[in-house]
Amino acid sequence: MNGGQSDRPLVIFGVGELAQLAYYYFTHDSSRRVAAFTVDRTHFRENQCMGLPVLAFDEVDTRYAPEEYDMFVALGYTRLNQVRAEKCLEAKSRGYRLATYVSSRSVTWPDLTIGENCFIMEGNVIQPFVRIGNNVIIWCGSLVSHHVEIDDNCFIAAHAVISGHVKIGAHSFIGINATLRDKITLGERTLLGAGALVTASTDENTAYLAASSQEAGVPSYRLQSLL
Ligand SMILES: CC(C)(COP(=O)(O)OP(=O)(O)OC[C@H]1O[C@@H](n2cnc3c(N)ncnc32)[C@H](O)[C@@H]1OP(=O)(O)O)[C@@H](O)C(=O)NCCC(=O)NCCS
Repeated sequence: MNGGQSDRPLVIFGVGELAQLAYYYFTHDSSRRVAAFTVDRTHFRENQCMGLPVLAFDEVDTRYAPEEYDMFVALGYTRLNQVRAEKCLEAKSRGYRLATYVSSRSVTWPDLTIGENCFIMEGNVIQPFVRIGNNVIIWCGSLVSHHVEIDDNCFIAAHAVISGHVKIGAHSFIGINATLRDKITLGERTLLGAGALVTASTDENTAYLAASSQEAGVPSYRLQSLL
């Protein structure tokens, strides 16, 4: 496996939920120590997060120099991961190497190819011959089957099933519980809503949304014998 595994201490970009989770996972399940958080000066509110200092991004290198510290950009999927991708570029241009985390509670194999600024949470099953690009977040409990290729800047929510030989184009968002049949290709910036079932390749900039369950018109108390 590759993708920036190292003992170097870390500065996390962001202070939101994902940043707090990143702090927790890196702290409890990696060899890295989180030293500080950083946010854009326009977003600066508190000077501490999780008991650690928060610095404005424009001055973070004065105390946490890129020669000594790596960075992890902990932003979500806003604008199909564009915001996170841009911040990764900015951090790299400031000289930071970007850290990748793969949960020890996921199943992976030694040949996994994975880029920088990836975050793979617990309970994922990632089979052999998988390639994951840069800046890919995979939440918990998904199957990434053999020979799958995931391009840069994607976000895969919990419990997706990605069958063998699927290719996922850059900046795609795969919603919770989505299912992708084998050997298809998702074009760049494909959006799959929660529970989508995709059985054919998609064009770029397309969205696939599953129908939500409808209110059944029968009161829940009439169904209590089922519960
Ligand atoms: C599909 C999804 C992205 C839409 O979310 P949203 O942006 O909040 O959607 P909204 O309800 O505001 O709808 C936006 C538009 O899409 C349309 N739309 C939403 N769901 C639709 C569906 N199933 N079919 C057709 N149109 C739909 C709405 O009518 C609305 O159109 P309008 O602006 O013309 O009224 C969302 O339902 C979803 O599946 N999100 C993924 C959840 C997930 O995986 N979360 C895990 C994060 S870790």
